[in-house]
Amino acid sequence: MIKIKVSLLGLLLLSLVVSKNAKGAWGKSKEAESNSNQFLTIAHRGASGHAPEHTMTAYQLGKDMHSDYIEIDLQMTKDGVLIVMHDEKVNRTTNGSGDVKDMLLSDIKKLDAGSWFNAAHPEKAHFQYKGLQVPTLEEVIETFGKTSRYYIETKAPDVYPGMEEELVRVLKKHKLIDQKGRDNKVVVQSFSQDSLLKMKQLAPEIPLVQLISYSTPAIISDAELDDIKNYAIGVGVNHKRIARDYVKQVRNHGLLIHPYTVNKRADMERLIEWGVTGIFTNYPDVLKAVLKKKE
Ligand code: G3P
Ligand code: CA
Repeated sequence: MIKIKVSLLGLLLLSLVVSKNAKGAWGKSKEAESNSNQFLTIAHRGASGHAPEHTMTAYQLGKDMHSDYIEIDLQMTKDGVLIVMHDEKVNRTTNGSGDVKDMLLSDIKKLDAGSWFNAAHPEKAHFQYKGLQVPTLEEVIETFGKTSRYYIETKAPDVYPGMEEELVRVLKKHKLIDQKGRDNKVVVQSFSQDSLLKMKQLAPEIPLVQLISYSTPAIISDAELDDIKNYAIGVGVNHKRIARDYVKQVRNHGLLIHPYTVNKRADMERLIEWGVTGIFTNYPDVLKAVLKKKE
């Protein structure tokens, strides 16, 4: 009980401190548009170092910490609804088990998406996390609105035929696609080039980012970067695999580079010094503090 009270107080204080001190503007800054070179703070699965990933609470904390984007991973239910979840299975982040593709939205909505976090991170546990629901993409957009920005990943597109069409339908319904490309609220990212090319066909006005997974130190050819530039505005790469020269090469091709997932100050400082144009982090408050120190 004492732990929960301390944890609640800590969370409130943290939220107040970042709200007062951090600069930047969640969804308000024109300068933070995806198609500019403005450095972007991307709240990875929300502020998921502080609250259960891909819950409204984690997204709200990301907003309070003045992130430029909420990062969202998508899965699709058996009845064709896009939900926000990293894994194809519900096992890790809920009290249920099974594949999202085999479950109806009504099944997903019965799950507790917060208690796992309290068990995994007792020092950050909060009683209000218990019983949090898995949101749909539409619920997230309805909650955070057109003044927020969304960095959306099509996860496992091979498992979910029609996922891109449904994504475009939802974004169009909520008027989040800027036909003139001047004030983009959405970036779509994927490890699947096919998925990005499909998005390009369906909605060419949406900026795209090619995620690349390296199991060894990252190397990319100029030809590959030229190819990516035909459909994407940037690349997202594991920060542990890249070096200064990789960043330089990407930037020389006029592409943005957003390393994931960077949670330590020293790594943030080094990557910023190398010239990356944004960072995915579970701790937007830490990244904002690093950026403020550099001002
Ligand atoms: O989307 C950037 C980063 O999130 C990719 O890795 O596994 O966290 O989705 P993952
Ligand atoms: Ca992701």
